[in-house]
Amino acid sequence: MTQPSQSPVATEALAQSAFLLAARGEPVPHTPVWFMRQAGRSLPEYKAIREGITMLESCMRPDLVVEITLQPVRRYGVDAAIYYSDIVLPLKAVGVDLEIQPGVGPVVASPVRTAADLVAVRPVTPSDVSYVTEAVQELTSQLGGTPLIGFAGAPFTVASYLVEGGPSKDFAKTKALMYSDPDLWHALADRLADVAIAYLSVQIEAGASAIQLFDSWAGGLSARDYERFVQPHSAKVFAALEQYGVPRLHFGVNTGELLGLMSEAGADVVGVDWRVPLDEAVRRITAAGGAPKPVQGNLDPALLVAGWEAIEPEIDRILAEGKAAPGHIFNLGHGVPPTTDPEVLHRVVKAVQSKSARA
Ligand code: CP3
Repeated sequence: MTQPSQSPVATEALAQSAFLLAARGEPVPHTPVWFMRQAGRSLPEYKAIREGITMLESCMRPDLVVEITLQPVRRYGVDAAIYYSDIVLPLKAVGVDLEIQPGVGPVVASPVRTAADLVAVRPVTPSDVSYVTEAVQELTSQLGGTPLIGFAGAPFTVASYLVEGGPSKDFAKTKALMYSDPDLWHALADRLADVAIAYLSVQIEAGASAIQLFDSWAGGLSARDYERFVQPHSAKVFAALEQYGVPRLHFGVNTGELLGLMSEAGADVVGVDWRVPLDEAVRRITAAGGAPKPVQGNLDPALLVAGWEAIEPEIDRILAEGKAAPGHIFNLGHGVPPTTDPEVLHRVVKAVQSKSARA
């Protein structure tokens, strides 16, 4: 897919960016680094700009999306930007009644429990999210050689909010639905796969250089349940996006038992939380006979408040373990905690980039 908003110079700089080289398993000038949830939360300039504006409102205003997406790029010098939005935005865009409550997360007014509830879940069209196209086009032109990562929630994680009605620890209602009415579960997950495909296609067609499919809560499932209830739907999303040729990243928390299956779903880059060392993650990805793949991760976010003496040896260990993969994108094992001191993140970026620089 061509990217009309990019000059030939920017296109070449992008192709040679550390992030895209690592995602393709090619030699890199340094190990690229970005952070999940780098946009928002801990940045004072984010809190200032969000004053009096709800999360979802801010996601529908291209001027705010552009500014908030760029804030961490300016401040930290990260190797990639992640589009500022939320996994429930496409549902909101097709009319599902939901809000994002501060400190809580997405809350759905009428949870999905019956076949009749499914009508609310239809794929987004580009005109439902014209502000996304506008913001991505503006971002890619301002970012030049820095890649923009588009993202969506994977069918299971988004379904968990729709079925539970809000955040959950045990996903009891979601699992009950899978077991008691598998046909309804598969119909819902299939619709959510179509939502993710449509929403990610909009972002890629507007110029995003890579996409990440967040299955944050898939680690709540056994491998057996993941394989029959979830993997086919995530696989549908990855397969539909293959035509674009952009790297497809996949991530979930507590997915040590699922890394092989999540890789098999069709990810080009496998995200790893802090529980599994990256070299062990590579072994798990290849255990069923699959080819080794680039990995992303995996500094424990809790360490960000533990002091530099604790953080630095962990960076060294992760950079060393990441060498077991054909490509390594440095990240946290999950999102930036809201209390993080921005100076610490800046120091992590500089340390990763300088320690890994090719002589
Ligand atoms: O990564 C980035 O910087 C881009 C922005 C981004 C947000 N949400 C902004 C946001 C991304 C990639 C997401 C994805 C997302 N949203 C996920 C997957 C990633 C992950 O963390 O596992 C999930 C599970 C959600 C659902 C969600 N939305 C949660 C759990 C929360 C946090 C609730 C809280 O306040 O602790 C949100 C709200 C949210 N999404 C905020 C931001 C900046 C905070 C709300 C605010 O600023 O008012």
